Amino acid sequence: MFDAIQAAPADAILGLMEAFKNDANSDKVNLTVGVYKDETGGTPVLESVKVAEAKLLEGESSKGYLPIGGLGEFCDLTQDLYFGSGHEVVSSGRAATFQTPGGTGALRVAADFIHQNFPKASIWCSTPTWPNHPKVFKAAAVNVENYPYFDADSHGVNIDGMLDAIKAAPVGDVICLHACCHNPTGADPSAEQWKQIADAVYDRGLLPFLDFAYLGFGDGIDSDRSALTEFARPGAELLVASSYSKNFGLYRERVGALTVVTAGAASAKTVASQVKATIRTNYSNPPSHGASIVREILVDDALRQQWDGELAEMRERINGMRKLFTQTMAERLPGRDFSFIERQRGMFSYSGLTAEQVDTLREKFSIYIVRDGRINVAGINPGNVGPLCDAISSILGPG
Ligand SMILES: Cc1ncc(COP(=O)(O)O)c(C=O)c1O
Repeated sequence: MFDAIQAAPADAILGLMEAFKNDANSDKVNLTVGVYKDETGGTPVLESVKVAEAKLLEGESSKGYLPIGGLGEFCDLTQDLYFGSGHEVVSSGRAATFQTPGGTGALRVAADFIHQNFPKASIWCSTPTWPNHPKVFKAAAVNVENYPYFDADSHGVNIDGMLDAIKAAPVGDVICLHACCHNPTGADPSAEQWKQIADAVYDRGLLPFLDFAYLGFGDGIDSDRSALTEFARPGAELLVASSYSKNFGLYRERVGALTVVTAGAASAKTVASQVKATIRTNYSNPPSHGASIVREILVDDALRQQWDGELAEMRERINGMRKLFTQTMAERLPGRDFSFIERQRGMFSYSGLTAEQVDTLREKFSIYIVRDGRINVAGINPGNVGPLCDAISSILGPG
């Protein structure tokens, strides 16, 4: 039976990672993958995580299963972190949170939940979006539609196109929005635009589904929450997929959460029973280690402070590299404007480079970029920014 199976299409980013690994050039630069890199190009374990892990190792007394929805304290802390403690959504009990294996696990559980409970609903994704969004949603048998998002001329959000699509979407559909640090473009709506988007989504009767994979990577926890707090209006319903992969550096530990915000506490209980039924037939219950680390850090004032500092360090390094790249490109090619890189937020930016230019950068300079031109800004450091900008300048010309 297995001999008849055709190979699945290769993952473009993982293929580039493999090619990078095999590239003998010692000056090679990797701007492809979706993980944070420090100045030395490494992805270290946070110190706060190390301390929390040591405490866990010492205090752990059982390897028994977690409940289907995961660690209750972790879920409560997740609500506080994402909505802000004391937020009405949290205090009213109308939100139900479930620990999931990463943000991807939250997206999949939500998609299964949508398919089971709203079988006719489509999920609308931004153009472009994280390539796994449509794949995960389709794998759960949910139809996927697309709304305009990125404006290549301004390197910002095509707000008019987005609002028009929202106003024309079928009532009862779901719209997936990147809560901050849009992947792959780096272009986020302003606070005023988020208000317009939330007005349009609720006026049209759509269910907002916020994918929150980069809390703290934009401008700080408070301001990165602004889209979510805009949607968390009195009595409003929404879904939130959160990931702790980036902001706690816990990628391989698979820590995330799904939060369903209902109109009132009674329906939160009913919805929770359906989400748990979905989880039970999917992976039964989540893994403990990563979520225990997050809990350990968020309940302990000193560890929480240490983590805040480490998160700020990652964010400031990325934003610093955005500035340095923009300045260096301005020196190399004063006729071209790269200031949008400095305006954008999060780990990624759409560089505007074409697939052919990306291929040339790889073949001639061992600079690895995804073919749609997306760069991982965290892959830039003071040591490689010069050669990187020289190479880009040489293929772009003065403009
Ligand atoms: C937009 C977006 N959503 C979700 C995820 C999933 O993250 P996780 O690794 O926690 O599954 C990512 C990871 O790259 C992402 O970029």
